[in-house]
Amino acid sequence: MGKPVNSDGQRIQELCKKYSMYTWNVQKDVDPMPVARTDGLYFWDYDGNRYMDLTSQLVNVNIGFNHPKVVKAIQEQAETMPFIAPKYAYKARAELSRLLIEEIAPDNMGKVLFSLAGADANEFALRIAKAYTGREKIFSKYWDYHGSTYGAAMMNGEAIKPSPSPEIGGFVKFFAPFPFHEEIPFPSEQALSAYYLNNLRKHLIFEGPDRVAAIFIEPVTGSNGVIIPPDGYLQGLRSLCDEFGILLVFDEVMMGFGRTGHWFAADYFGVKPDIITFAKGVTCGYAPLGGVLIDKKIADYFETKRLSCGLTYNAHPLGCAAAIATINVYKEEKILENTQRLSKVFAKGLDEIKAKHPQVGDVRCIGLMGGIEFVKNAKTREPLVPYGITSTSPVMDFFVNAMKGKGFSLFGRGSIAVIAPPLIIKEAELLDALRAVDESLTLLENSPS
Ligand SMILES: Cc1ncc(COP(=O)(O)O)c(C=O)c1O
Repeated sequence: MGKPVNSDGQRIQELCKKYSMYTWNVQKDVDPMPVARTDGLYFWDYDGNRYMDLTSQLVNVNIGFNHPKVVKAIQEQAETMPFIAPKYAYKARAELSRLLIEEIAPDNMGKVLFSLAGADANEFALRIAKAYTGREKIFSKYWDYHGSTYGAAMMNGEAIKPSPSPEIGGFVKFFAPFPFHEEIPFPSEQALSAYYLNNLRKHLIFEGPDRVAAIFIEPVTGSNGVIIPPDGYLQGLRSLCDEFGILLVFDEVMMGFGRTGHWFAADYFGVKPDIITFAKGVTCGYAPLGGVLIDKKIADYFETKRLSCGLTYNAHPLGCAAAIATINVYKEEKILENTQRLSKVFAKGLDEIKAKHPQVGDVRCIGLMGGIEFVKNAKTREPLVPYGITSTSPVMDFFVNAMKGKGFSLFGRGSIAVIAPPLIIKEAELLDALRAVDESLTLLENSPS
């Protein structure tokens, strides 16, 4: 980002770089923007520049920054009971658990197990699935992301992943539809789904379906591509799981809590998984919290079997208090409704951008989760960076920097620029952002290289 002008900003940047490690980076290349303050859709650097956050940070700050009701709830919880060990019963945990199971989760869910974030929610889900089924294998999809702790990382479907070594056995990857990149011209979305489901069925048979505990997926692949499943695919997965007694797990860490315009993508697609993991939007990052929703039959199983895992900060009171307040904000401010309404505006704007700019091969969006896929060649659909790779490129850097120059923050992964604004965004603000995307793409077209 270059050196800040403001001396406080400079010192903060220097200290952060000198004494702390930055994840996902070669340390000498790290160039963190010193952020001075946040509010609503925006954050500011120390030089007074304002940025509209078009990715809700890491697709988690769905209600925007600094919501007074959530801040107050955390303050009140900190004053009355900032911490209590997970073995106790307490008001914030009681209220949140009831709210999640009785009002928010699909009606097959019986209990929730709290974690601190997404990766550890997935670790818990892995253990639960293996314990419940007594089976050892886990299937997960290429492209999906599940976290960077050891077990979760084993499920990640990225082509190049910083996986711990040695890898744990029993994790099997499979390909799922990626409509934009299919080489066979399928006559319909159903036909595409059927083709992949049939292949997966054969894959399961060869791996021994009675050894497979769970199929673990992002129902919509999030930041690795905004890959939306074709009609019938998730329903077909549900049927395959039922046929072989395999648990279906939706990792809704990114899609859950409103991103699709529904509490969960499971609701959007009308499919009931056996387990849902969540994090991010449940507190919008105001305090760390994640969790695992488990079907009633799995909850019943653990009535007489030991749940052999736990964390000191499971069901942390500050996280629970933040989550209750956040969920109330979603309801009071009709955030799901806003997302559904603006999704149509978003989709139309992205389509117009695609029609105008040849370097845009595809645009995809569901709710307010959008992706712009860059191509080298619109006809052949050759992606900007080789298929499966999620590293950055000069073209993506140019685009992201052009957006930044206009006061909009977003990120690119591989060939995909992600646009996932806070769900509180208004139509005029969304249109401003789309205009900036259009102008930045024109700058890209007119750039010398
Ligand atoms: C779908 C999905 N699962 C899991 C995770 C990991 O969550 P966390 O970073 O909170 O551990 C992420 C994070 O981006 C995610 O998008």
